[in-house]
Amino acid sequence: MRNLKIIKVEQDFKSIKAQASVILVINNNLKKIGNEKLFKTFGYKGEGGFFDQENSTFYYGISDLNADSLREAGCMIVRFFNQLNFTNFKIHCYGDEAMMEAFCLGILLGQYQFDFYKSQKKSFALKEVFLSQEHIDGKKVDFPSVESLEKAKILANAICSVRDVVNMAPQEANPEYLASWAQKVAKDTKISCKIYDKKGIQKEKMGAFLAVNRASVFEPRLIHLSYVPKKPKARIVLVGKGLTYDCGGLSLKPSDFMVTMKADKSGGCAVIGILQAVAMLKLPVEVHGIVGATENMIGGDAYKPDDVLISREGKSIEVKNTDAEGRLVLADCLSYAQDLKPDYLIDFATLTGACVVGLGEYTSGIMGYNESLKERFEKVALRSGELVARLPFNRHLEKLIESKVADVSNISSSRYGGAITAGIFLGAFIRKEYREKWLHIDIAGPAYVEKDWDINTYGGSGAGVRAGLEFICDVISGE
Ligand code: BES
Ligand code: ZN
Ligand code: ZN
Repeated sequence: MRNLKIIKVEQDFKSIKAQASVILVINNNLKKIGNEKLFKTFGYKGEGGFFDQENSTFYYGISDLNADSLREAGCMIVRFFNQLNFTNFKIHCYGDEAMMEAFCLGILLGQYQFDFYKSQKKSFALKEVFLSQEHIDGKKVDFPSVESLEKAKILANAICSVRDVVNMAPQEANPEYLASWAQKVAKDTKISCKIYDKKGIQKEKMGAFLAVNRASVFEPRLIHLSYVPKKPKARIVLVGKGLTYDCGGLSLKPSDFMVTMKADKSGGCAVIGILQAVAMLKLPVEVHGIVGATENMIGGDAYKPDDVLISREGKSIEVKNTDAEGRLVLADCLSYAQDLKPDYLIDFATLTGACVVGLGEYTSGIMGYNESLKERFEKVALRSGELVARLPFNRHLEKLIESKVADVSNISSSRYGGAITAGIFLGAFIRKEYREKWLHIDIAGPAYVEKDWDINTYGGSGAGVRAGLEFICDVISGE
């Protein structure tokens, strides 16, 4: 992906010299394109791709002209060319600025592959995509702007870095690795990064976070990235669950459920990716990224069901299930985050299987106490191309995390509504003055991809990065 260049060309489509052409078929409108005889001969009805070899023209069908379908189309077109040896292709501009930005993001992510552990690495012949500044209707256009192109590039880079780290084997991508990645991002983008080791986390009195780490051979890390521009419009604090491996602890996961749990660091990785993008874009807003990085392992020193932990907020937690560990790490990280006095506080976490059961594997859950903030996040996330849905708290579910021996229990007493009760657990650690400023995003479904969908391919997806960045941009435009 890092080698693929998108180049705007101030020429009409025909006069651009390219090895291949790409034409979108919108809503099966083959008539408008002409060439009907050819389509008929080959039985192409306007869905999916069709390659006219004689004219080196690739047709790709989309059902509607909008940002979502263009993003996906960009990705699919590049994936088609990845199998061939063309070094470039040309295409018209479609839709508007936002649609072309989405299209460019799809193009760039079309060459994402994780081949870190492969001895034979595939390289792609396709190096350039020419965007004709002639609209499909023959009019001249002046989009995508340089800014949109740059934003797509920065976003694609951030998503690819997040995917790479999520995809890395857990023995390698351990808490120390996450910390050194964050430090590298900080160095490259000239922002600051503070890393707390075990001693530092002890000093912070993060009793819940530390308990989760106990059986791991790797020490925990608390990562604090800060991007502080001059005259920021608002202060946003992002918190991420960085479980570099979650075997469930003593409440051990069954083998089939343990596979892919290297991806339990996806929320933390997304937060680091968002900070990278924010810093690269030089946005006029203060953003902090807090990541609690640890493993949840098994062993003689493991924390156990029946343990009572004292969190950083001072609340005691009865452990009833050591597999509900993410909320323990997040409780302490959210406590730390509130000390930064945020205007907006958002956590990203692969928190519950229940969220995946409820919403399906493509959709993240939005939770919190502020209805209009949830609505706003939903709107901007959907605009960014991520699927999200709101999950409602209620007073009956609130009661389910009551504990007989401590202030709160780490699991619900009911087996229903697990995504929401996990959110409510986090809410118990949010101080009154931040309740309306806080959102919890459960990305357990879309964070890890088992079967290609949309612009996502097998492995980490980078879920949360687009939505988070779009929310930050929305805050800037609204303040
Ligand atoms: N990391 C898991 C949640 C998860 C499950 C993420 C599937 C991605 C895919 C989390 O730590 C966990 O194990 N949650 C438990 C909570 C339960 C013990 C209350 C779950 O969802 O089963
Ligand atoms: Zn777990
Ligand atoms: Zn987990």
